[in-house]
Amino acid sequence: MKKAGIALLVLALSANAVFAGGGQQGGSGGQPTIGVAIYKFDDTFMSYTRNAIENNAKGKAVVTTVDSQNAQPTQNDQVDQFISKKLNSIAINPVDRTAAGAIIDKAKAGNVPVVFFNREPFAEDMAKWDKVYYVGAKAEESGTMQGEIVAEYFKANPGADKNGDGVIQYIMLKGEPGHQDAELRTEFSVKAIIAAGLKVQLLAEDTAMWDRPRAVEKMDAFYARFGDQIEVVLCNNDDMALGVVESLRNAGFFTGGKYLPVVGVDATAPALQALSEGTLLGTVLNDAQNQGKATFDVAYALATGAAVSSTSWTLTNGKYIWVPYQKVTKDNYKNFQ
Ligand code: GAL
Repeated sequence: MKKAGIALLVLALSANAVFAGGGQQGGSGGQPTIGVAIYKFDDTFMSYTRNAIENNAKGKAVVTTVDSQNAQPTQNDQVDQFISKKLNSIAINPVDRTAAGAIIDKAKAGNVPVVFFNREPFAEDMAKWDKVYYVGAKAEESGTMQGEIVAEYFKANPGADKNGDGVIQYIMLKGEPGHQDAELRTEFSVKAIIAAGLKVQLLAEDTAMWDRPRAVEKMDAFYARFGDQIEVVLCNNDDMALGVVESLRNAGFFTGGKYLPVVGVDATAPALQALSEGTLLGTVLNDAQNQGKATFDVAYALATGAAVSSTSWTLTNGKYIWVPYQKVTKDNYKNFQ
């Protein structure tokens, strides 16, 4: 009995020691441990963000990055493992941002602080715990910039209103429904065109789920249906914009003076290449380098018990870090290559 009692006490003490440190310093040389879950690795922009997180972690923290393969149940299991292993903090790019509330409940119960990134949880979920942060970019800002690029183009090129009716006929290709970037970029791009004094008419809107091959298919169908009625194609990201460019190229565009303006968001390397070739009209830098760095810096501060306010990032409402977007056109794309 006595021995068992001592054993229990020792166990309780060591468990206490673990918690007092805010978790296990399981990494090499006592580096903090950070779990990172990405909604899916097979996403161009997220692969840039993931690389930025991992590069910033070098020599400072032991980062375990997992691919949630676009399945929330998979991600939930991965988060459960991070928590049961008592990692020092976790950084989550949710598959479904409505699932963030349940993740926060579990993280709070296990006392593992969390920073979400790229897919913004609802405000009521963010309010559930003080050790929850968000790193992202203001989606409406990217929509506005995209709309401004389109408006500038139509003002400078009156002939782009092909049927001369004084109205811009457009196609909208969206990211996944419900994603703040898809909804707000769609809304604010059009608002910016109208705010510039131009009239618009939506021919068709559909989702291609951020995905290039799907965008090729959608654009093939739109072109078959609307043909030369289409005067511009707005896409919520570059992968889809490049899919549209590919479809149009197959339909004979971008040679012999046949042109249609297409805009995206992200400023990926292939998009910058398309800008240099004159196929893509414009894009908006979605700053993966700084979003990845901010995500790591917050996760690291949380993992080491430092105040997030002590990082170099400006905190909004005590919980949010917003990384600015930038307009990218043929005039300045070289600065982003
Ligand atoms: C957006 C980005 C898209 C896609 C998405 C994933 O910010 O523009 O290309 O990566 O995030 O959540």
